[in-house]
Amino acid sequence: MSNCIIINNKKFDLYLDEIQIQEIVNKMALRIREDYSNKVPYFIIILKGAVFFASDLIRAVELDCRIDIIRAKSYGSEMNSGDLQIQYLNDNLTDKDIIIIEDIIDTGKTLSALITHLKQHNPASIEIASLLSKIPPSNLDFRAKYIGKDIDNMFVIGYGLDFDEQGRHLKNVYILSE
Ligand code: IMP
Ligand code: MG
Repeated sequence: MSNCIIINNKKFDLYLDEIQIQEIVNKMALRIREDYSNKVPYFIIILKGAVFFASDLIRAVELDCRIDIIRAKSYGSEMNSGDLQIQYLNDNLTDKDIIIIEDIIDTGKTLSALITHLKQHNPASIEIASLLSKIPPSNLDFRAKYIGKDIDNMFVIGYGLDFDEQGRHLKNVYILSE
């Protein structure tokens, strides 16, 4: 396991290893299992960054569930927010107990826009499960119920998260070195 990674001449240091990620996932899965014991959660996975997290989380929850995917693209090759584009792949969400699975909350714009969009389909409930969040819950205009870990406002890669489409395959999460 390497302690640092170089991508596009930028150095990233190890931030969360596989075991730490697994602990975060299992803890969150347990909460979801308890909260949804009488429900069938309808997981909506935000592509592409959340794929590995969602895959681990959903299997750890161990509840009968439904799965859907959404593409909500907000980043190009720059390390800051860009325009948001939502591609929505199913519209039969009435009365569903939705859990949106996201990799990281940065400004919260992606989820805010997505929640507004999904509410138009009259789901029974909408909650958020995000591996990481750069923003305290009180500064968001929606409720982020399941947050794996709060992090400083630093750029991270790995475990699905990319820098200019690179680094998604890494088993650990790495943080941009100061
Ligand atoms: P928001 O709309 O500003 O909350 O942006 C959220 C999206 O930006 C996430 O789904 C990620 O795709 C991307 N993003 C934000 N911060 C990072 C980061 O540190 N590394 C990689 N992608 C990030
Ligand atoms: Mg994303």
